[in-house]
Parts: sequence; C-alpha cells; structure tokens
Amino acid sequence: MTTQTHEPPIAQEALDHVLDRVELRLQDHLGRERAQWTSAPTGQASAVVPIDAVADLVHAGGKRLRPAFCASGFLCAGGGPDDPVIVDAAAALELLHAFALIHDDVLDASPLRRGRPTVHERYAAEHRARGWRGESRRFGEGVAILAGDLAYVLADTLTADFTPPARELWGELRTEMIIGQFVDIRSAAAASADLPLARWIAVCKSGHYTIHRPLALGAALAGRPDLAPAFEEYGVALGEAFQLRDDLIDAFGTSESTGKPVGLDVDQHKMTPLIAVAVERDARVRALVAEGGDGGWDAGRLRELLAETGVRAEIEAHIDRLVKRAHGAIARAPIGESWRRILTDMADRVAYRDR
Ligand code: IPE
Ligand code: IPE
Ligand code: MG
Ligand code: MG
Ligand code: MG
Repeated sequence: MTTQTHEPPIAQEALDHVLDRVELRLQDHLGRERAQWTSAPTGQASAVVPIDAVADLVHAGGKRLRPAFCASGFLCAGGGPDDPVIVDAAAALELLHAFALIHDDVLDASPLRRGRPTVHERYAAEHRARGWRGESRRFGEGVAILAGDLAYVLADTLTADFTPPARELWGELRTEMIIGQFVDIRSAAAASADLPLARWIAVCKSGHYTIHRPLALGAALAGRPDLAPAFEEYGVALGEAFQLRDDLIDAFGTSESTGKPVGLDVDQHKMTPLIAVAVERDARVRALVAEGGDGGWDAGRLRELLAETGVRAEIEAHIDRLVKRAHGAIARAPIGESWRRILTDMADRVAYRDR
C-alpha cells in the first residue's frame, strides 16, 4: 500500500486543525484581555471599547491568509499540528493584520471594512451622535490609532515563545509593512507614477507580510531555515500577485464581495501598478494624472479610461507570470508532494480571487 493517496487529506486536515485552533486562540486571547478590564476594581465601563473594536474586526471574518500561510510553512517543514507555538504565531499574524487594517483605513479614509463601518468611521459617528466636544473626525481617528496599537500589542504578546530566528523575522515583517505603507501614501501625495516603485510598494506593504514572511516564519519555527529561499521566491511573486489582484478588485470589483469600498485607490490618488502602467500606455491618463497633481483627479474619468485601455489585460498577464513563478518555486522546494499541491492551489486561489 502506498501512502500517496492518503497524503493530501492528511496534510489538509492538519492545516484545518491548526486553523480551527487559531480561531479559538483569537477568541480566547481577546476575551481574556476584555475580562481583565471589566473585572478591575477601578474599571471604567469604556475601558473595553478599544478591545471590542479589535475583536469586532477580527470576528467579522476575513480570508485568514496569513495564518494559513504560516501554518502551511510550519507543517510542511515537519512541525506538529498540536504544537501551541504555531497556533500563537498564526493568531499573532491575524492580530497584526487587524492593526494594519485599522490604521490603513485611517490612512486611506475608508468608511468600510469586512462589511462594517471602519473603526474611525464608527467612533466619529458616535462622537457626532452624542454631541461631544471637539472634532468628531479627530476623535474617531484617535480611537482607531489606539485600537490599532492595542492589536499590535496583543499580537506581540503571542510571540513570547518565538526562537531567535523567528523573532528576527517577526521584526522584519512588521518593519517592512510599515515602511511600505509610508511609501504608499508618500507616492500618492507626490503623484509619482513610476512602475518599478509601484511594484516595490505592492510587495513591501503587503506581499511580504501576507505570504512570504508568514511562510518563512512557519518554517523557522519548525527549525527548517533551509526552506527560506524557496518561500522567498514563491512569496514575493505571489505577494505581488495578491496585491495586484487587490488593486484590480478596487478598480473593477464590487463592494458586496469585498466588504470594502471600490474605487478608493483612484479617489485617493494611489500610484498602484495599474495606474503606473496606464500612465505609461495612455496619453489621456498621463494628462489626467498630471493635471490632477495638486487639486485631485477626475476620478470618474480615470476609471472610464482604465476600463478602456488594455491595462487591465496587461496586469492580468503579469499576474499569470507571477503565479507561474510561484508554482515553479514550489515545484522545486524540498517539501512533500501533498504540500506542493496545497501551496500550488493556494497560489491560484489568492491570485484569482474576487474578494
Ligand atoms: C487586505 O488584506 C489588505 C491588504 C494587504 C491588501 P486581505 O485581502 O487579506 O483582507 P481580509 O483579511 O481577507 O479581510
Ligand atoms: C493595505 O493595502 C496594506 C496593509 C494593510 C498593510 P490597501 O490599502 O490596498 O488595502 P485595502 O484595499 O484597503 O484592503
Ligand atoms: Mg486601504
Ligand atoms: Mg492602503
Ligand atoms: Mg487595496
């Protein structure tokens, strides 16, 4: 009897088992923090507000990509599905993602996330409704800064058992995302439509912390640093494809499927690879972006032009190339056949998703 036919379900079952435990860990971790604040003798009823803001976002769902990649990296490197360190690492990544999203929605002035009002939007509305003092917008953004910071701390408290190599990766992953976010808003402000820069931003702000580093972190926790080169090649290519799809969904998708607004990148003058390619290819787009440098773009016209020019097909073709590269890296990686299949399928799901 060969074990070959049994291998894929076992690998998938192990992955599902870890991911189920990650959900419980998130609930437990957030629940315990909340309980501490409700039971404190000097407790204020409002002390739980930032915790609830984080918990509402986390429990509103999401694709859980970072936990899935981290758990896959760990399990395919030989880690055991009952090891608590991988559950904590995957839950930490989801809480770090919550931090990134809460702050990102302030940076991007987005009113909607995972089908609900964003943190800053919700608390600005509460401030207005209660007729409180000061600016409602400032209050809402203040709550979002603090709730995001809290998510960041709650993520960090789950990393106490990280090995030194894992700790180092955890540091890199956080720094590059924050730097990427800065360069993203800076290039929007400066209206610098530069394709290499736009691609760099996509990988730095999003690709690394979503795919490359979670996989590498999982492998490092399992004591297999030798997998790092294969995961870097796979993760950087797929990470860029992940963000390009996010940009395409923003331009051409629907808010019903994503639970976040569409058209926001154009409204916010984001210099995504999509816009950078359109600027290179189409004189009308070039003129619009140049004109709008200081007073904002004609967003409606820009969206029309994006649909007309061949830029959408060009980005799709680039995604196809990136997915092929990711498939190739995984085909050559020193991991079991079942994990090759799982990571190959995950690449397709991430690159060709509609939400
Ligand atoms: C959204 O990430 C933010 C980006 C990095 C583009 P996801 O697309 O993974 O969002 P959720 O977690 O599924 O909500
Ligand atoms: C956000 O990129 C990246 C991080 C959260 C670090 P986007 O701004 O494109 O993400 P969405 O589209 O708002 O989810
Ligand atoms: Mg955003
Ligand atoms: Mg953003
Ligand atoms: Mg986006």
